[in-house]
Amino acid sequence: MTSAPPTLPDELAWGVVSPKTYADYPGTDRLFARIRAEHPLAMTAIPDFDPFWVVTKHADILEISRQNDKFLSGHLATTLTTKEADARVRSRTGGSPHLIRTLVQMDAPDHLKYRAMTQAWFMPQNVRKLEERVRVLANKYIDQMADRGGECDFINDVALHFPLRVIMEILGVPEQDEPRMLKLTQELFGAQDPELNRSGEEQADVEAALAQIQAVLMDFFMYFNQITLDRRASPTDDVATVIANGTIDGQEIGSFEAVSYYTIVATAGHDTTSSSTAGGMWGLCANPGEFAKLKADPALIPGLVDESIRWTTPVKHFMRSATEDYQLRGQTVRAGDWMMLCYPSGNRDEEVFDDPYAFRVDRSPNKHLAFGYGAHLCLGQHLAKLEMRVLWEELLKRLKSVEFAGEPSFSEANFVGGPKRLPIRYVME
Ligand code: HEM
Repeated sequence: MTSAPPTLPDELAWGVVSPKTYADYPGTDRLFARIRAEHPLAMTAIPDFDPFWVVTKHADILEISRQNDKFLSGHLATTLTTKEADARVRSRTGGSPHLIRTLVQMDAPDHLKYRAMTQAWFMPQNVRKLEERVRVLANKYIDQMADRGGECDFINDVALHFPLRVIMEILGVPEQDEPRMLKLTQELFGAQDPELNRSGEEQADVEAALAQIQAVLMDFFMYFNQITLDRRASPTDDVATVIANGTIDGQEIGSFEAVSYYTIVATAGHDTTSSSTAGGMWGLCANPGEFAKLKADPALIPGLVDESIRWTTPVKHFMRSATEDYQLRGQTVRAGDWMMLCYPSGNRDEEVFDDPYAFRVDRSPNKHLAFGYGAHLCLGQHLAKLEMRVLWEELLKRLKSVEFAGEPSFSEANFVGGPKRLPIRYVME
């Protein structure tokens, strides 16, 4: 006899799926604290979605993520998708649940082959070569911040642009095309936020929302196809060249896969880093004592970087599906079950983090899982940490004081999001 899986009460399940939840700070924390305490591993039963396990405990997220053979990324939708959207995607793609084919949608054996193409490029020893250039760029944006005369919206005026420029340089996108890239990324990740998406409206119509996402992807495709042709004709030492000239099983990489690859690097590579950088500024404004600690001891900057990433957790979830029956936290996960890894919850798990809601630049250890874990562990984590460390090293030298200058807010997004507005007032040297 097998018992039915525990069901997450609908009110909590709707909270987990609703993009608006993630714009409500500290409401998200309250929601997940309750789920961790009362339903640490339970299945949803809400009408618009196929049932899925809501995985909220740090240990469970790690246990699933590290077993990529048992919990697949590509078999079902990789991010939370309604039944209707899933059916419509499949009808557009001839059965696949994915509109795009990047590393995050792949499993063994392809995943390893595609990841191996760029893995070395993103390793610390190679990424370190970028440090000098990253510092030049950081100072450019810090100078602009100083020129604003003591007030700015830190996310829209500073944090959005710096990681964008870094990633665009490594992809070989010229500066004049950057506004277009920024807009496309925001339209992709901000599809659920009427202030960020392409239509400027709430997305009630699934077909219209999908058409919008496909149009955004098509724009990315057209743009990057040009870069592929260019890097094949004239190779450089950037990551675009590595992708354009990559081979899989001795064959030149397909153009769909190449363009998908640029798109994931272009999109995953800056929004998340911008959000985490702004999250750090938010944390410092809300906790002046932490700012004072950093001013007194800049050796704490790497701690600030990790804590900013934990506190913000810009990637809200990824999905997995089970290949076999599996015992987890006293429950039986069945082969084929869909599972949501709730990173913001794992990063507040009181069994792992002391005082998990506090923003502490000297938190040690800081075993956050904002970069995921296992075979899909964030490819760009060393680059993201380098960018953030360098920005804070340069900024803290000049920033004498900083405080909120208005109400900050988060974007409405259940996949990738973070601060949307962060008005600050500051004194700089
Ligand atoms: C603070 C910043 C960042 C955060 C929080 C973050 C988060 C994540 C997470 C959670 C995953 C795991 C996906 C999964 O398990 O399915 C991931 C994968 C990935 N990230 Fe990041 N990321 C960040 C910055 C970057 C940057 C700068 C790049 C630039 C190249 C990047 C590129 C990627 C790629 C290509 C993958 C897919 C890896 C794979 O599936 O093998 N990320 N990231």
